[in-house]
Amino acid sequence: MGYVGLPLALLFSREGFQVTGFDIAADKVSTLNSGGSYIVRILPEHIKQAQKSGFRATSDYSEIARMDTVIICVPTPLTEYHEPDLSYVTGTVESIAPWLHDGQLVVLESTTYPGTTEEVVVPLIEAGNGHGLKVARASNQAGVHVAFSPEREDPGNETVARHDIPKVIGACGSVASELAAAYYGTIFRRVVPVSSPSVAEMTKLLENIYRCVNIALVNELKQLCIRMGIDIHEVIDAAKTKPFGFQAFYPGPGLGGHCIPIDPFYLSWKAKQFDFRTRFIELAGEVNTAMPYFVLEQVTAGLNSNRKSINGSKILVLGLAYKRDIDDLRESPSLTIIELLREKGAEVSYNDPFFKRVGHGRHYDLNMDCAPLENLGQYDAVVIVTDHSSFDYAAIVDQSQLVIDTRNATKGIDSPKIVRC
Ligand SMILES: NC(=O)c1ccc[n+]([C@@H]2O[C@H](COP(=O)([O-])OP(=O)(O)OC[C@H]3O[C@@H](n4cnc5c(N)ncnc54)[C@H](O)[C@@H]3O)[C@@H](O)[C@H]2O)c1
Repeated sequence: MGYVGLPLALLFSREGFQVTGFDIAADKVSTLNSGGSYIVRILPEHIKQAQKSGFRATSDYSEIARMDTVIICVPTPLTEYHEPDLSYVTGTVESIAPWLHDGQLVVLESTTYPGTTEEVVVPLIEAGNGHGLKVARASNQAGVHVAFSPEREDPGNETVARHDIPKVIGACGSVASELAAAYYGTIFRRVVPVSSPSVAEMTKLLENIYRCVNIALVNELKQLCIRMGIDIHEVIDAAKTKPFGFQAFYPGPGLGGHCIPIDPFYLSWKAKQFDFRTRFIELAGEVNTAMPYFVLEQVTAGLNSNRKSINGSKILVLGLAYKRDIDDLRESPSLTIIELLREKGAEVSYNDPFFKRVGHGRHYDLNMDCAPLENLGQYDAVVIVTDHSSFDYAAIVDQSQLVIDTRNATKGIDSPKIVRC
């Protein structure tokens, strides 16, 4: 019942399915059951509406036995050594396996390396159910049906309706493929069956690696353009008028979110098993990971022009979320930038309308409260890391001594106080 699972549950509920949301997080289960929501863009009304159609949440896996379809949308992070951490997937499959039975459809939606469904999920289902249940492959074979179908959500993107995003499905066997296509076809206008789970797993990774590599390209070109005195955003705006062969990607302070900074490494890890180095992924990772350090350099240079050092400066970071208008800070470059500024001796505050407080996570330990967006003249620099649309950029520039803009949020505002980077 996370960012992927909860919206999907609500979509199916709206179509008249009796949906049960399984989660090990007791607080999520109780919030949902009391008609509340913990994701900003999902309103409590949406949950209450779904409850009227029978939606409820539980942590009791025995209820899996009553389900016709089980969709798994659990996290697939990296370990501290940048290797796939499949523990949530394996934990979930081990928990559901004893309750599975003939004829059910199980779909993995978590992003992962090609081979996971066949090499990890299927064996765990077959070994873990305790009553000899097999994964059905042929049309005359009894068993549980298994498929992989990647999630393609783009949080905060209001331009494409969810049901207009085609759904790729790769199944173990033709019956599973037909079942999954019929099931998802109730929501998505187009389903795209492919020949195997591995093809579907690889499709998702290709999509995300494509983004990761192209973002790295513009991040590198941005740094060159700054040296050459060229505005990269003006260049991209001109290039995107080309009606073919070019898609615009935008530079920024570094990658964030659960997908783009993480997923490519699932593939580079798997590639090693085939004695293969995914050099594009590694290079893109190197460029993108260096971006928060580039922002630090730009803050240093900006302060330097005002005859100040980072050490002892008061700095306000605008935006914690990894991208505009969302309440998700996973892997957000803001977190790294705040830590880097603090390490250099800055006194850092932040403002983000989506986060009243930030504590600690797997890779950060900040323990800060949101500072009010006022009296900006007190800060030696204001660093725009996330370009939330609620910020009044003209007023921010007006009140600040120095603005470091990593997102082109101040486009059209002419002021010597702005450093665009
Ligand atoms: N968030 C996105 O925009 C997005 C987009 C595309 C793909 N994905 C992929 O979808 C998957 C899920 O991502 P997310 O953003 O929804 O993650 P999330 O962390 O928001 O949600 C995962 C949920 O799974 C629950 N969970 C963990 N172990 C469980 C278990 N054993 N049983 C039941 N619940 C369990 C967690 O408590 C959490 O609520 C990941 O593989 C991610 O890469 C995410």
